[in-house]
Amino acid sequence: MYTDLNAAGTIFGGQLVAWIDEASAIFASCQMNARRIVTLKISELIFNQPAKLGDMLEIWCRVARRGHTSITLEVIVTRRAFADDPTRVDPINQYEIKASSEICRCETVFVSVDDHGRPRQWNKLSGSV
Ligand SMILES: CC(C)(COP(=O)(O)OP(=O)(O)OC[C@H]1O[C@@H](n2cnc3c(N)ncnc32)[C@H](O)[C@@H]1OP(=O)(O)O)[C@@H](O)C(=O)NCCC(=O)NCCS
Repeated sequence: MYTDLNAAGTIFGGQLVAWIDEASAIFASCQMNARRIVTLKISELIFNQPAKLGDMLEIWCRVARRGHTSITLEVIVTRRAFADDPTRVDPINQYEIKASSEICRCETVFVSVDDHGRPRQWNKLSGSV
């Protein structure tokens, strides 16, 4: 949407980081079966290519490590762009989705916390990955 763009007309990086944080927190919360979690880390990320107005973004999460109180996720953001060529338009959906392409990837770490904000064990299996 227009409100998600920067002055150059492409996706505003801060907005994308917020979406990464939010989406991966939801995924982590489900994996940990814990409602009270906090973001400990969002690793460096490099925007390999821009996303433009109307693009659909997909945020993919995968568990990289299950700790005692934490969980580490690998996160990949891909872009599905609308086709420019009208002859390739899907007659049902009025657009064709191009092959997904990677915009960026990063690592996120979430920690389960108690009512006082202290780390709380969520994974009973010691040394599990
Ligand atoms: C997250 C927080 C509760 C951790 O407290 P802490 O006393 O540092 O906790 P610990 O040292 O016991 O570490 C907790 C877990 O984080 C892991 N951890 C700590 N530093 C880490 C790092 N740099 N990278 C990856 N994991 C790390 C530990 O290994 C541990 O995981 P495990 O129990 O699964 O092995 C505390 O740092 C905090 O409140 N940070 C602010 C969170 C916040 O406000 N986030 C932004 C908005 S949600």
